[in-house]
Amino acid sequence: MPVDILIGAQWGDEGKGRFTDLLAADMAIVGRYSGGDNAGHTVTIGTEIFKLHLIPSGIIHEGVVCLIGGGTVVNPAVLLREMAGLAERGISVSPDRLKLSRKAHLITPAHIALDKAKEAARGESAIGTTLRGIGPAYTDKAARVGLRAGLLADPEGLAEAIFAHVEAHNQTLTQIYGVDPLDPTAVAADFASYAQQLAPHLVDEAVLLHEALAQGQPILAEGAQGTLLDLDHGTYPFVTSSHPTAAGALVGLGIGPRHVGRVIGVAKVFTSRVGSGPFPCELTGETAVRLRGTGENPWDEYGTTTGRPRRVGWLDLVVLHHAVRVNSLTELVLTKLDVLSGLEEIPVCVAYEMDGQTTTYLPPDQAQLSRCRPVYETLPGWAEDVTQARALAELPANARRYIEFISETLQTPVSYVSVGPARNQVVTVRNDL
Ligand code: IMP
Repeated sequence: MPVDILIGAQWGDEGKGRFTDLLAADMAIVGRYSGGDNAGHTVTIGTEIFKLHLIPSGIIHEGVVCLIGGGTVVNPAVLLREMAGLAERGISVSPDRLKLSRKAHLITPAHIALDKAKEAARGESAIGTTLRGIGPAYTDKAARVGLRAGLLADPEGLAEAIFAHVEAHNQTLTQIYGVDPLDPTAVAADFASYAQQLAPHLVDEAVLLHEALAQGQPILAEGAQGTLLDLDHGTYPFVTSSHPTAAGALVGLGIGPRHVGRVIGVAKVFTSRVGSGPFPCELTGETAVRLRGTGENPWDEYGTTTGRPRRVGWLDLVVLHHAVRVNSLTELVLTKLDVLSGLEEIPVCVAYEMDGQTTTYLPPDQAQLSRCRPVYETLPGWAEDVTQARALAELPANARRYIEFISETLQTPVSYVSVGPARNQVVTVRNDL
């Protein structure tokens, strides 16, 4: 069963990029299946830091074909910038390596203008989106008026569609939100140029993936965002507009469940979230600064895409249990264990107390979630530096106990733990999964 799925088990930013990078070495194809350039994946290789938004992190491995799948929304200007940045650093993004599904939807300046206008109009109840036009692009898709990437191979059809699209959205922008209209001719001209550059990358993903499956080639579905940002299974309405969960990988790439092998959930050993919405384990003050970092290091808790400081809190096992269930996780990968070194004690949220009742299920409604108080179990910390450990036995006993506690509570094996930002700073817990 050659399709493995790697997903975020929390609110995104779990450190998926570096594990895609690690697993990609053995893959024939790595495919992004949802979201757009709202994602930000940081991969550190030696002294080089790669920040990727749309292109799968597998691109860094020469032999891997990377696919931007049909479930994604793609801003062509951003994609071309990212391609140029990689090419400058000697990484090939030629059409035989980087493929764009004809089914992916295009993000236009009208979507970005709408995202900004809608967020501004929401005022206090703003979602805190990345303002990349993600929601409006998926809205158009669901309303069946979206622009699919396949249009990039049809210059006349594209010009016509862009013109109609901008004119239609200009009405909303000017009449509902009172903001300036966009110039359809200028947008169409830009898209004509993007089309010329991107048309050679277009692919029918069904042919690419199903021929690979028929040949038994290994495929990795690379998640963006995280389970708690899923449109259906996340903390609605403070979610993104796509499906970062495992089921989203199947829809987003056009693959059935029979082909799925491992479903790997990546989770930080504490919790972070950007944007608005309830966050039961949220910390403020000194401990928050301690977990977040100052922002000086690229791996500190500041958004890769927006630069916003992330909200942080202790590890929330209610959230992770939800992720285990809705994704059928076969295993967990834990990241940033090194950040916890030096803490005397580490609280872990094992349940919520809501209206006098204790629950280990994530409540489906925001009103309920905002009434939840974390029930903590406190584990002993460790003083030692863990950054040089590569095997479980090389970790301090209390760090091992922390990992075992997570694994046992969630009844899910842990396969890897990262102990620093470098590519090799990974403890292999189990490699038999
Ligand atoms: P949107 O995806 O830009 O519409 O934003 C919706 C919500 O998802 C906001 O709270 C964003 O901060 C959050 N979000 C979107 N992409 C990411 C990501 O890659 N990491 C973490 N949060 C994200």
